Amino acid sequence: MKKIFITGCCGYIGSHTCVELLDAGYEIVGLDNFSNSKPSVLERIKKITGKEIKFYEGDMLDKNLLEKIFNENEINMVMDFAAFKSVGDSVSKPIEYYIDNVSSVLTLLSVMKEHNIKSLIFSSSATVYGTPEFVPITEESKTGGTTNPYGTSKLFVEQILKDLYKSDNDWKICIFRYFNPIGAHQSGLIGEEPNGKPANLMPYISMVATKELEYLSVFGDDYDTKDGTGIRDYIHVVDLARAHIKGAEKLNKEKSGLFIYNLGTGEGYSVLDMIHAFENANHVSVPYKIEARRPGDIAECFADSSKAEKELNWKATLTLEDMCKDAYNFTKNRKEK
Ligand code: WQD
Repeated sequence: MKKIFITGCCGYIGSHTCVELLDAGYEIVGLDNFSNSKPSVLERIKKITGKEIKFYEGDMLDKNLLEKIFNENEINMVMDFAAFKSVGDSVSKPIEYYIDNVSSVLTLLSVMKEHNIKSLIFSSSATVYGTPEFVPITEESKTGGTTNPYGTSKLFVEQILKDLYKSDNDWKICIFRYFNPIGAHQSGLIGEEPNGKPANLMPYISMVATKELEYLSVFGDDYDTKDGTGIRDYIHVVDLARAHIKGAEKLNKEKSGLFIYNLGTGEGYSVLDMIHAFENANHVSVPYKIEARRPGDIAECFADSSKAEKELNWKATLTLEDMCKDAYNFTKNRKEK
């Protein structure tokens, strides 16, 4: 059976997608450099699914390694998850973000082309919409005006993929614009486990609840929103992973094409909503302090995902309570290990 090549297979979204793909009977070749993940994730994926991934350690910038992987495996599709993803960090480290999130994709695409593998699912982000002109955001909403290098790096790659498709209509490309993935696999074995202090809201809240961190800094309460704090569309990472099964089915069915989908729930929640939802779901307290805005943040962002529902027959089904419970369960599990 031909294999799907997963870059960043040990990362947060990559690992959850590997579980769903393996459970659905797909075979996987994986690559990870452990810059924001851990080797132990491989054993945990095996523990959950009972199946192995053919794994290579290394970096997507290493063309020789990518050549080796494509020469040694019969690959018919690539899902590219490998990227740095912190909005806040990207503002202070633009060069690292453009190298890791753009140059590495160019290396991947050139090797795919050499091997005539032209089926790709790319992890993009709602941050490509910059400060959205309206919410909920549809795929036709204007992109650009990105407010941080992370979002700009994703916008650059989307443009590269559009140019590539224009140059060669044999390509089949699915661009998934993720909103805010949170939560964890219900086993508690895999989840969002950033190396170092979390940059994202949910892992931070979880570590305050387990008392690994003292309190949550709420980055600003003076936005033009219902309670002044930032509003985002939080989606369970397992719902997001399941969309990739639908994306693979779509690309396997189509002769060619470039397809773009928002992956969100259509619900926007503020930071204070999230604190209260987490406390209620887990019967814990999450102390917080209102602090200054974080550079690069926007006020409000949530999705209209009806296009994915119609064309992929995919819809997020897991609730905010599921997201909060599963996130906390993973963080507690991780701490006890
Ligand atoms: C969410 C809200 C912060 C931390 C994410 C991912 C990015 C991309 C887009 C997929 C904001 C506030 C956060 C904290 C806080 N996802 N916050 N205190 O910035 O929306 O970006 O979604 O591609 O990879 O990072 O997510 O979780 O960092 O912030 O108040 O300690 O929580 O201001 O309003 P963001 P986030």
